[in-house]
Amino acid sequence: MLYTDKMKIIQKHKDCIGCGTCVVLCPDFWEMDEGGKAKPKQGRRNEKTGDYEFEIEDSKGVCNKDAAEACPVQVIKIV
Ligand code: F3S
Repeated sequence: MLYTDKMKIIQKHKDCIGCGTCVVLCPDFWEMDEGGKAKPKQGRRNEKTGDYEFEIEDSKGVCNKDAAEACPVQVIKIV
């Protein structure tokens, strides 16, 4: 069986200040929503917390690490 490492990306959506850095650094995965905050293009929203989360293979998601590091309010977490 082929083993692939996956990363889970979680965004604390309500704390996003809409700076847009993640969209610039990682446009395949992030977009701005109607409210002026970023949200991931895939994945699901946790109805209780309002956080977004999605999973991808490590090798395909490198720019998400850049986005997580660059976010000025550190609301994107990789686990
Ligand atoms: Fe928001 Fe951080 Fe992206 S503030 S727009 S999640 S870089």
